[in-house]
Amino acid sequence: MTYFKQVNEAAEFLRGQLSGLAPRIGIVLGSGLGAVAEAVESPEWVPYGAIPHFPQSTVEGHSGRIVAGLLGGVPVIVMQGRVHFYEGYTPAQVTFPMRVLGRLGLETVILTNASGGINSNYQVGQLVLLSDHINLLGFNPLIGPNEARFGDGKKTGLRFFDMTEAYSVELRALAQAAAREGGEALHEGVYLATSGPSFETPAEIRAFRNLGADLVGMSTVPETIVARHMGLRVLGISCVTNLAAGISATHLSHEEVFLAGSRVQHQLASLFTRLLPAIAANQAEAQAEAEAEQAR
Ligand code: HPA
Repeated sequence: MTYFKQVNEAAEFLRGQLSGLAPRIGIVLGSGLGAVAEAVESPEWVPYGAIPHFPQSTVEGHSGRIVAGLLGGVPVIVMQGRVHFYEGYTPAQVTFPMRVLGRLGLETVILTNASGGINSNYQVGQLVLLSDHINLLGFNPLIGPNEARFGDGKKTGLRFFDMTEAYSVELRALAQAAAREGGEALHEGVYLATSGPSFETPAEIRAFRNLGADLVGMSTVPETIVARHMGLRVLGISCVTNLAAGISATHLSHEEVFLAGSRVQHQLASLFTRLLPAIAANQAEAQAEAEAEQAR
């Protein structure tokens, strides 16, 4: 069976589980951030294991299920846990869930992750919006034949496409406004992805800083690339769970990353309850504009 067909089967299965809910916004929750899904009202759960062809996470702190319901009154589909390249999954497997979300008809995805802070202005426990990324994973998930059916064949699903604005400027502005309403200001920074699973050496972190990275992590970038291939808008939100190697005197551990993530998830959930209605209103506006354009 082709990959495209597998994705469609998974999407069809999920559609059947969502009892009429037609979310246009998806959220992927990173390490230690899973409890954000508890803010979803009228939730319906689908374990990854029940979805045809869906990869299952092997990492502690990634529980591996879909939660669909309402967040801030807006229909949403939340992926509680993701799979990573370092678990031994292929790039196609790592991005399979994002392909499925695309085929479900989503318009916007919010990708969250845990990261190490390289920028010395960052503190542990802060949320940072991704302004851009640097892909040092050693692969691009789109290597191989281009599957144009993941797009509309005109502006999306293209072999070569623009990544100038991988992380939507408009969505970042909405996130900043939602954060301000809650009395916070968010930093914006460049996320550098490495394969892991070992954390970086201090020399690597110095090199990454010189390359222009503010944050370092092991996820998100493959999902952003395929989301943009499908024409989805992406918002990236990173939780700085630790200072990157060599920046603080302490050694890094997964427990530290996990605990810092757990502490910030309430802040993230409250940001989402303000942000999702704003994104939904923005989508409705864009749709009205597109319809008016067509009528002209
Ligand atoms: N490095 C890489 N990935 C991470 C880190 C880190 O310091 N913290 C959380 N994810």
